[in-house]
Amino acid sequence: MHTRPVTLPEQDGNDLRTLQSLAPFLWMYRGRVLLALACLVLAKVANVGIPLVLKEIVDNFDIKSDVLVTLPLTLLLLYGLLKLASSLFNELRDAVFAQVRHGAMRSVSIKVLEHLHKLSLRFHLERKTGGLSRDIDRGTRSVSSLMNYMVFSILPTLVEISLIAGILLVKYDALFAMITFVSVSIYIVFTMKVTEWRMKYRVAMNAHDSKANTQAIDSLLNYETVKYFGNEQHELQRYNESLHDWESSAIKSQTSLAALNFGQAAIIAAAVTLMMILAAQGVVAGTMTLGDLVLVNAFLLQLFIPLNFLGIVYSQLKHALADMRLMFDVLEQEPEIVDHPGARDLVTDNAEVRFEHVSFAYDADRPILHNINFTIPPGHKVAVVGPSGAGKSTLVRLLYRFYDVAEGRILINGQDISQVTQKSLRQTIGIVPQDTVLFNESLFYNIAYAQPAATRAQIENAARLANIHSFITGLPQGYDTIVGERGLKLSGGEKQRVAIARAILKNPRILVFDEATSSLDSHSEQNILVALREVAAHHTTLVIAHRLSTIIDADNILVLEAGRIIEDGRHQQLLKKNGSYAHLWKLQQEESRQELGTGL
Ligand SMILES: Nc1ncnc2c1ncn2[C@@H]1O[C@H](COP(=O)(O)OP(=O)(O)OP(=O)(O)O)[C@@H](O)[C@H]1O
Ligand SMILES: [Mg+2]
Repeated sequence: MHTRPVTLPEQDGNDLRTLQSLAPFLWMYRGRVLLALACLVLAKVANVGIPLVLKEIVDNFDIKSDVLVTLPLTLLLLYGLLKLASSLFNELRDAVFAQVRHGAMRSVSIKVLEHLHKLSLRFHLERKTGGLSRDIDRGTRSVSSLMNYMVFSILPTLVEISLIAGILLVKYDALFAMITFVSVSIYIVFTMKVTEWRMKYRVAMNAHDSKANTQAIDSLLNYETVKYFGNEQHELQRYNESLHDWESSAIKSQTSLAALNFGQAAIIAAAVTLMMILAAQGVVAGTMTLGDLVLVNAFLLQLFIPLNFLGIVYSQLKHALADMRLMFDVLEQEPEIVDHPGARDLVTDNAEVRFEHVSFAYDADRPILHNINFTIPPGHKVAVVGPSGAGKSTLVRLLYRFYDVAEGRILINGQDISQVTQKSLRQTIGIVPQDTVLFNESLFYNIAYAQPAATRAQIENAARLANIHSFITGLPQGYDTIVGERGLKLSGGEKQRVAIARAILKNPRILVFDEATSSLDSHSEQNILVALREVAAHHTTLVIAHRLSTIIDADNILVLEAGRIIEDGRHQQLLKKNGSYAHLWKLQQEESRQELGTGL
């Protein structure tokens, strides 16, 4: 099984890039961001003012005994007002910023989903949905936490440190400001170094977490396969192994966090002790008042409480950045299939489909299609038959432009499909795919998916044509029946008929049926074939069929083998050729005779 390698993200450069990726989402709210920052500074100014007033109050009582001690009412009121203002501006900042935070989160989420839809089928087949959704989930959540840390912890603390250091510098011995700066610098450097050392445990933890989750989801998606082989124990063991890895990195991450926190506390303790000794000396020597001692003490407490927190915040911040990086990496993946610059909408007044010398390979070392040439004139029906793995469904994927051809071109109404917009191309084609996957929503929703604006009558009519209306109305919940994840509560034939109803509702110029009736019994198949013929009349149609009896009326039949068209012609012509097709026809005739004979 392929696992994501556990690598340390590059430091700094990478973080900077992550922040740059985030910037446009903040820029959308620049007015609010500025307002929140203004509130932040005002709150801090008020906050730093509190110890200053406190000092004045204390000094007011500490004057020589011959002066009358008065009640410093103004100062006391000012003290209360500052407290109120600090809290008011804090709350204002939160309120103003809430919209930025949630708005940015929403924009990022939308952008990611939009981008995921733009990425090619190849990306989605290779990526593991469980792991991907975890990465994205963590990524969007980290957008919010990053902003929280920035606006609620880091910036306020930085503003506060500057204000306090400034006041200490102006009012007291430069030594106070110096100790503050030096201790804060040591603290920050220590925190960064230790956090970077710890990062690898967290990254490993995330990787193991994603891996375990991918495994669990995969085993649930394969629920039936697991049961077929009685492999529950095997699945549990694989899950347990991954969780074990996760557990050991989680424990390392936790223990190293304890070491970090203790180191930080030690630095703070040293700085506080040193400053208090200095201040107390000043009071003893008479160079500082009692108020000054109170002021220095209050400043330090005020400064180091959030700074103590900053350690945890910094590590969280690094993790948030790492999580966000994974998400932005997805966002920065270039889509493989993009609209050509200046691509126009497909014009389909004449829906002719033409494959010209088309060759294709999913992986360069294993060619799938070789020099395919055929034309479906407007309104005609062309069938493709051939053994499993010949490349029949691949033709359809190319027509839909899920992949670009390696050589040659595909034309619709004379326009190269790689030169027109994907939207207009896909609007033109309707498909009943080989494997129909449904949304875990109601039958109504699933049919209406082809044309969300459709009326109930249109939907029921499509269902009737697809021979599924009476089945649906017979269900206890009727059209509101929920179909289960990927539509698994429906039988293969029922799903296929839902897909047929969808194609009928979409009513496109070009229709593709990829073994559209393969899951149906002969009786239902006959019923639906009548409906399909009606729908396909006047449409350009490409039919991929396993049962040859369903395509004898085709205008042209292509026999595809190992990616090459080895025969083509109408049914009768091909029978006369007595080649591959005729052989297959005889085999199938024989089979159905035997079935009749045994009463099946
Ligand atoms: N995404 C992919 N990446 C690599 N190889 C692929 C991919 N999809 C299909 N193939 C290979 O391409 C070949 C043609 O596949 P395709 O689905 O076109 O076959 P098919 O003719 O429709 O067969 P069937 O009748 O079984 O549906 C197969 O051998 C398959 O293994
Ligand atoms: Mg196929």
